[in-house]
Amino acid sequence: MSGVSVTKDAKGAAEAADDLVVLSNVNKHFGALHVLQDVNLSIARGEVVVVIGPSGSGKSTLCRTINRLETVDSGTITIDGKELPSEGRELARLRADVGMVFQSFNLFAHKTVLQNVMLGQMKVRKTDQATAAKKAQALLDRVGVGTQADKYPAQLSGGQQQRVAIARALAMDPKVILFDEPTSALDPEMINEVLEVMQQLAAEGMTMVVVTHEMGFARSAANRVVFMADGKIVEEAQPEQFFSNPRSDRAKDFLSKILHH
Ligand SMILES: Nc1ncnc2c1ncn2[C@@H]1O[C@H](COP(=O)(O)OP(=O)(O)OP(=O)(O)O)[C@@H](O)[C@H]1O
Ligand SMILES: [Mg+2]
Repeated sequence: MSGVSVTKDAKGAAEAADDLVVLSNVNKHFGALHVLQDVNLSIARGEVVVVIGPSGSGKSTLCRTINRLETVDSGTITIDGKELPSEGRELARLRADVGMVFQSFNLFAHKTVLQNVMLGQMKVRKTDQATAAKKAQALLDRVGVGTQADKYPAQLSGGQQQRVAIARALAMDPKVILFDEPTSALDPEMINEVLEVMQQLAAEGMTMVVVTHEMGFARSAANRVVFMADGKIVEEAQPEQFFSNPRSDRAKDFLSKILHH
């Protein structure tokens, strides 16, 4: 992880060129609700950013705008220097660079585990079937569910299904993966097996944005914690600093609730 921490510690003008995801003055409304308020956020290549904050603060919406599942009202979002187009083939291509892992795994119920990891490769990346199958199997092995390849999602535990969802995201060779509360729907004993896979990805240098309240993960894997409240980024800091010495009252209040519940 040394390369990652260099980026983290020395983030300045020189590294700005290496920012992979850049949100500039992003605003988003849902009707009267100003859900993202002038959000500025730059994520460096190889950086792991944990986003935390109270329910309704806009964390999921933030993730969804990054791969354009949601449009923005103003501001810009660039991925690897390219602004997200509003539609069309170019959007599909850029969107494929942004992997997404949701709380609910969203696997296709009537496809096998292997087929789930093959589909995107064939449809979006135009990979041939044999190559896609080989890669799918290798990725399933990597996340520890290789022996489940021929089963259907419902035959797997929640933790196994979420690892399949991570393999599916990896199959697209994404530049960044967004995780939106990937362990919130899991039974406690399955949380660690998913976090371990995520830790491993982080250690390998994957660029990750992770919405989670798993403080252990944030402390050990994140380069930066971004605290959101009411549609705004209220505070950003390195994990140790954020958890031991939050600056804002909002963050202090939030941490006291989640750490002492
Ligand atoms: N499609 C939508 N239409 C209208 N309002 C929405 C929509 N999606 C989200 N919202 C509202 O926007 C606000 C932010 O929602 P968002 O899901 O981004 O919050 P969150 O921080 O992810 O919360 P949680 O921790 O509960 O997942 C909430 O008030 C929510 O009700
Ligand atoms: Mg959410």
